[in-house]
Amino acid sequence: MAMAKPKQRYVCTECGSVATRWQGQCTDCSQWNTLVEEAPQTPFSAKHHLSSGGRGISFEALDAPTAPLTRRSTGLAEFDRALGGGLVPGSAILMGGEPGIGKSTLLLQAAASIARTGAQAIYVSGEEATGQVRLRAARLGLADAPLRLAAATSVRDILTTLNAGEPPALLVIDSIQTMHSDNIEGAPGTVSQVRASAFELIRYAKESGVALVLVGHVTKDGSIAGPRVLEHMVDVVMSFEGERSHQYRILRSLKNRFGAVDEIGVFAMEGAGLTEVANPSMLFLSGREEPLAGSAVFPALEGTRPVLVEVQALIVRLQSGATPRRAVVGWDGGRLAMLLAVLEARCGLSFSSAEVYLNVAGGYRLTDPAADLAVAAALVSALADRPLPLRSIWFGEVSLSGEVRPVAHAGLRLREAAKLGFDIGHGPEEGGAGDRRQGGAPAAVKGLRYHGIAALPKLVDRVVGAA
Ligand code: TYD
Ligand code: MG
Repeated sequence: MAMAKPKQRYVCTECGSVATRWQGQCTDCSQWNTLVEEAPQTPFSAKHHLSSGGRGISFEALDAPTAPLTRRSTGLAEFDRALGGGLVPGSAILMGGEPGIGKSTLLLQAAASIARTGAQAIYVSGEEATGQVRLRAARLGLADAPLRLAAATSVRDILTTLNAGEPPALLVIDSIQTMHSDNIEGAPGTVSQVRASAFELIRYAKESGVALVLVGHVTKDGSIAGPRVLEHMVDVVMSFEGERSHQYRILRSLKNRFGAVDEIGVFAMEGAGLTEVANPSMLFLSGREEPLAGSAVFPALEGTRPVLVEVQALIVRLQSGATPRRAVVGWDGGRLAMLLAVLEARCGLSFSSAEVYLNVAGGYRLTDPAADLAVAAALVSALADRPLPLRSIWFGEVSLSGEVRPVAHAGLRLREAAKLGFDIGHGPEEGGAGDRRQGGAPAAVKGLRYHGIAALPKLVDRVVGAA
């Protein structure tokens, strides 16, 4: 049988999908200019069936005895929490985040802390010289930790060295985009190099029981560029988030084969590195005592942790017929457009000749759908120039019909708010779906009056009547 001529292929650096010809836009993930040419692959021959010549595999019962998961603390309780209880030996973790957000700092601190317990921790930097890392360690007060540090980018060099000694408890590779496998062609950072390097490192981790952390830089829109193709290869995908101009950082797990994905760790970036924030519920409040139009407090939920967040809206009426601006920081722009449309259609409020600015305080990013009502309250308050009652909170999901829908864990949100001195709760009429199941009515939270808001027109009545 004649061998077909190897075909040129093009791989998307965003999602890893393969095309046979170059296109400006990836047909799978719709990103522009992300297709890059990859070395041709030798086509498979039809002669080589895979149905014979292999070794037999053995099957096991589902209830066969398994060793319990042992976890190792990173020395940072917030990191452990986001991991679901610590590092699992033999697991691979992808740590994503924008450049400069603090990934290297976090991992240097964790590695040093593990090294101080007497276990072996190795930190391989492909981005910085060892001198630079040492300087940072000194600034962080970690210089005395018996951490093993190297600057290297060749996966073969790294694995040859590691295989010659005892496997460490933790291996940090900073970053996977700088690693190079000489098994295949291409510059570091290309999809095929990132994939091949990660594959070798992960295999080593699995075989030797090493907890492996691969750092991966992400692009502005939050996707782990290049390393996104690694998400299915690793056990845990974490994302380190925050605004670089703000102090606070949130460590989230997006995928976790060994635990829940909704736990977060909260840190503050300070002069001496990242410090843990054990009680984050007050962080994202401005602490202002004067009532101010356009400001609403939302009890967000991060996993099982309530975090109170201030949402600020500013409305500027335009005289001219210029297209008004809508600018959002910390929330979804599409969701804001929807909410404005619902307020126009269901409550007769007009935002069309005004500029709308929405900001979530403290550099926090809201993803909780229950934020709708707080955003709506901030918008209506700003438009009417009526401050919301002091020490009040707002939560609930808004539907296109303008109804306020129940959300999960209303009771938890209200209890946290009450604990912090808030005394008026506004939310869905019937509280939260989760609470109905648990049988607790949200109105029953001690020290807090609860006002059910069935639909947005009622919100408008309350805000305008509030002054
Ligand atoms: P870094 O860990 O290098 O980020 P990444 O590895 O994600 O690119 O963090 C870089 C930023 O953190 C840098 O801009 C300065 C700041 N930083 C501090 O504010 N305090 C510190 O103690 C350290 C080490 C860094
Ligand atoms: Mg770094």
